[in-house]
Amino acid sequence: MSKYIINGGKRLVGQVEVPAAKNAVLPILAACILSKGEVVIHKCPHLRDVDNMLKILQDLGCKIKVEGSDVTIDSSCVSGGVVSHDLAQELRSSIFLLGSIIARLGKADMAYPGGCEIGLRPIDIHLDGLKALGIDIVEDGGHIYCDACNIKSADLILDLPSVGATENLMMAAIFVKGKTVIRNVAREPEIVDLQDFLNSMGAKVRGAGSSVIVVEGVASLHGTEYTPVSDRIAAGSYIISTVMCGGEVEFSNIIPEHLRSLISKLCKTTCNIHMKNGIMTVRSNGRHPRLPKIDTMYYPGFPTDLQSQMTALATVCDGTSIITENIFETRFKQISEFRKMGAKVDVKGRTAIIEGVSRLSGAEVSAEDLRGGASLVSMGLYADKTTIVSDIFHIERGYEGMDVIYASLGADIVRAD
Ligand code: EPZ
Repeated sequence: MSKYIINGGKRLVGQVEVPAAKNAVLPILAACILSKGEVVIHKCPHLRDVDNMLKILQDLGCKIKVEGSDVTIDSSCVSGGVVSHDLAQELRSSIFLLGSIIARLGKADMAYPGGCEIGLRPIDIHLDGLKALGIDIVEDGGHIYCDACNIKSADLILDLPSVGATENLMMAAIFVKGKTVIRNVAREPEIVDLQDFLNSMGAKVRGAGSSVIVVEGVASLHGTEYTPVSDRIAAGSYIISTVMCGGEVEFSNIIPEHLRSLISKLCKTTCNIHMKNGIMTVRSNGRHPRLPKIDTMYYPGFPTDLQSQMTALATVCDGTSIITENIFETRFKQISEFRKMGAKVDVKGRTAIIEGVSRLSGAEVSAEDLRGGASLVSMGLYADKTTIVSDIFHIERGYEGMDVIYASLGADIVRAD
């Protein structure tokens, strides 16, 4: 299995172009099924989750062409509507294929989705929303069978602002005659990006970014070319590593508005973050005063996807830091590996209490999930001596060439098979 070998202690200096967002690309790829024309996605990152999503689209009859970072999807021959168990298990995002398959084919057969070991990740809100649209749903033997022969517009409200359920329902309603109103929706930038993508194909969706989305049904969608929004979580991950290790890094293709909650927390430490001519410069002297209390929350609150990374930073901050994970039940699994590097972290329920230490020591650790794995790399870049991070397939689900990016910033990191 592949691993990263890191000799820590180097400052990070240089430039990073933020890639397109995994969590925007995945629903956008699912939405390609809705189009009768050819869709070209530019700057598509090479990630395991993206590769698996493309395999599912091919299984459904889409023709896929990959040329560098341009991915062309022709869904004119989509048929079947069956998502295999193996592929559905590979990634959580398979669940929002339900909405697009139902909208295009009128029926669907999907195995329950897989994903990170960060919580139960139920899909009740997805299914309740689809039922509110009049879709008949039968769950049997780990499969979800949907029949949309009675689909109708509706005014529905989500129990909580689920990102995936919001995206699923936007797509399920896309061709439904009349006006569908979806309330208490997620407000993440990736939802706005999906709306913009759908509308670039001729859809009539509005309200994304607010808590109410309105979908007016159209007859069909044409092809388009699209570049997904930049990845605020990948950007945040590299920003936090820069603050942790010390250095000066310039970020391009970055949207500060999407990182406001992170920036507001970091600017209470010694780092300096400023934006000029589209470039965000992060400077850090490598000293880390006490972190303010952090509670993960739905957007625009502090993102759960940066919780592990901030917990890693907290291990070397002065004093005691308190970080509470309010979105997922078990998103502190990586802490046991943090302790191998000398971190002092105690977890009580959904709260981590972190006693800052003056140094971390390299160790052999393994990634448990995508963001936890990224956090171990940050700690390895900071720690004395050598850190070996194994099971990096978790990391490569959501970060393209993390070793190459850090090496370009002066870190001593190599990927070894
Ligand atoms: C999306 O997952 C992201 N994944 C996650 O990113 C992200 O952490 C999450 O949104 C929250 O921002 C993608 O976009 C591919 P949710 P999703 O539905 O849609 C509960 C990463 O690291 N819930 O917003 O699965 C759920 O258990 C990944 O890139 C229900 O109870 O998240 C959780 O507590 C990890 N019933 C909360 O809602 C449901 O039917 C938020 O989940 C659905 C969700």
